[in-house]
Amino acid sequence: MGISIVAGPASKDMAKGIADTLAGKDEHARLVDVDLRVFPDGESKIRIADALDGDDVVVVQSTYPPVDTHMMQLFFILSKVSRVASRTVTVVPYLGYARQDREFLAGEIVSIDAIARIISSYAIDALVTFDAHSNLALSYFTVPVHNISAVPLLAEYFKKRLAGEGVEAKDVVSVSPDTGGASRAEALADMLHCNSIALRKSRDRITGAVKIDHEMLSKIRDDMKDKVAIVVDDMISTGSSVAEAVRVLLEYGCSKVYVACTHALMLDGALERIKESGAVDVVATNTIPNKKVSRIVDVAPLAASTVLSILGNSSATGKMDRESNNKSGSRSSRSSRSSISTST
Ligand code: R5P
Repeated sequence: MGISIVAGPASKDMAKGIADTLAGKDEHARLVDVDLRVFPDGESKIRIADALDGDDVVVVQSTYPPVDTHMMQLFFILSKVSRVASRTVTVVPYLGYARQDREFLAGEIVSIDAIARIISSYAIDALVTFDAHSNLALSYFTVPVHNISAVPLLAEYFKKRLAGEGVEAKDVVSVSPDTGGASRAEALADMLHCNSIALRKSRDRITGAVKIDHEMLSKIRDDMKDKVAIVVDDMISTGSSVAEAVRVLLEYGCSKVYVACTHALMLDGALERIKESGAVDVVATNTIPNKKVSRIVDVAPLAASTVLSILGNSSATGKMDRESNNKSGSRSSRSSRSSISTST
């Protein structure tokens, strides 16, 4: 039995990229398309015509907007695949709802908890995702989670680009728009051999307006002068966070500012907002199919090698244990949370 890569409706190109990489390593790897019909009331009807019985199956479906639709389609595919496959690995390049990982305002539902319970209820061997918003979000899953960092790929891209532009590492600074992303900016800085800083951002929980604290920037004004900055974030949604960061960095003396992220949602005029802020351009990965960013970094080969190492390490007999686990209901217990591996 071979490896079947099921291309969810939201991630056809990514699935093909993963299948192409796997095909180079395993002659039995094949891409499986799904048929999608959307009824007038908006319901998705999915058909997987190819037989998957006994295969190792990799389901690829990102959950970018329309998030709920793509999430439901993922559930539908998993409900079928997890019943017939020998082993199931789920690749969700962008994991929607991960930002709703806690009760920010009293009474708010922790939505990623609900999503995690549903995904964990299927007999799957692992969930693979890229730069999930937080480890807290992933902690709600009770299946093994592999959270891959795209930072090394972004670093590789910028190494070449900066060298081509004659920019030396000492003149570069890696910047997180908020303290929550400090370790991401540090990781990028380590790979580029440059300095890093994390700005202090606050967001109005009702209006969504973003503000950056100037006090800290005033103290490091000299370190910013004539530097080439790379603002790096896990995702760009409305672009307000990175646009505000670009604006203050230029105000504090940076000579130019690039923007990089893993997940380019690019909603509500994000690109225009970022361009107006003075950024050179936006570099992003292809976890979300996107024509709105200037340069795309392909993460499919990295996803494929993670899938291969999971399949190489997990035994097919594990499925029986997982199914009996599910029947006894242990999956829904927060006390049975699973392992999270995070790469940098
Ligand atoms: C927030 O903590 C995230 O890391 C991103 O900075 C944020 O979600 C981006 O949203 P937006 O583009 O709307 O500012």
